[in-house]
Amino acid sequence: MTETPPLALEPRYYTDPDIYRREQEAIFFRTWHYACHVSEVAATGSYVAFEVAGESLFTIRDGQGELRSFYNVCKHRAHEMVSGQGRKRLLVCPYHAWTYDLDGRLRKAPNAEKVPGFDASKICLTSVRTEVFCGFVFVNLDPHAKPMSDWFPEAEAQLKEFRPGIEDLKPVKQVEVIEDCNWKVSVENYSECYHCKLNHPTFSQGVIDPESYNVLPQGHCLRHTTRAAPSEAMTYAVAGPSGPDQGANEAAQAYSSWFLWPAYSFQVYPGGVLNTYLWRPLSVDRTLVVRGWYTEDGLLSDTIEQLSEQDRVTTVAEDVRLVNSVQRGLNSRGYEAGPLIVDPATGVNSEHSIEAIHDWVREALEPAG
Ligand code: FES
Ligand SMILES: [Fe+2]
Repeated sequence: MTETPPLALEPRYYTDPDIYRREQEAIFFRTWHYACHVSEVAATGSYVAFEVAGESLFTIRDGQGELRSFYNVCKHRAHEMVSGQGRKRLLVCPYHAWTYDLDGRLRKAPNAEKVPGFDASKICLTSVRTEVFCGFVFVNLDPHAKPMSDWFPEAEAQLKEFRPGIEDLKPVKQVEVIEDCNWKVSVENYSECYHCKLNHPTFSQGVIDPESYNVLPQGHCLRHTTRAAPSEAMTYAVAGPSGPDQGANEAAQAYSSWFLWPAYSFQVYPGGVLNTYLWRPLSVDRTLVVRGWYTEDGLLSDTIEQLSEQDRVTTVAEDVRLVNSVQRGLNSRGYEAGPLIVDPATGVNSEHSIEAIHDWVREALEPAG
């Protein structure tokens, strides 16, 4: 029997609004998503509102010190409970002042004592599964979802080892960019380095060594590993005098990233510089990408300032041009799903990670049986 290479997803997966809607239900409402950073919800009553696939949610620190997340909707007549971020003693709905404790239980509703049979103790905001992963808060809208440690085996321990002190870092800068493509075009582009040498000269010569690049699936995590560029070629000072003390850590000379299906990634640049990617689908062919940068003290350092700007004007801008072109191509009558370069030995010029992503999409949208 002659073997044939695996094929990419058919173009309709990236262009059909019906498939996009099915993905919300089958992928986004069943997977783990970044909510906020623990440092933003450290104090009792501090909260952050955010969105997952069009659902408004918020995470809050309750009176017992627990982190809780809820759908951002009042149980009375559906006004939103909070917006943005801030700190509350009680959760008071802005519409008719129904008042909830920080753990989501209804405490009182004006005039409800006059209503026969009204039982405030039966009313609670709808909660959402919440986990803290390396100091980052994640939620899952599926009450039966497996924990993150099942989805992404070993990833948290590897991150803590590769970037000691990761859970104490604080967000310092965010860079947002809109891409005119389906979210999977952007995620796939992130997940292979087959395109790096040709398209990312700064990253492939001044940050990492592309020859040693590899991406391997680890549960629903894609783990990227590579050596750093030679020190004389590095575009920034690795672990300078005011930088993190990475002397004893082999990660000082390496780059690694952990992509957590479907829409978040932690990457650690040589010298322990943590930065993140978040993808938020806006429509079938528009995606918001947020790059996050972190430091020990939450203050912008020269290294982060320089590196985040370099990243914005090189790698990110280069990728925007690529993914926007791919989206236009996916609409072409002259394209049908092409063969993937899946090298059994893996490595930088293999697209086995793309094959894994396509399997996850097909599994979610066309469950067996
Ligand atoms: S909708 Fe919230 S109090 Fe009426
Ligand atoms: Fe890229």
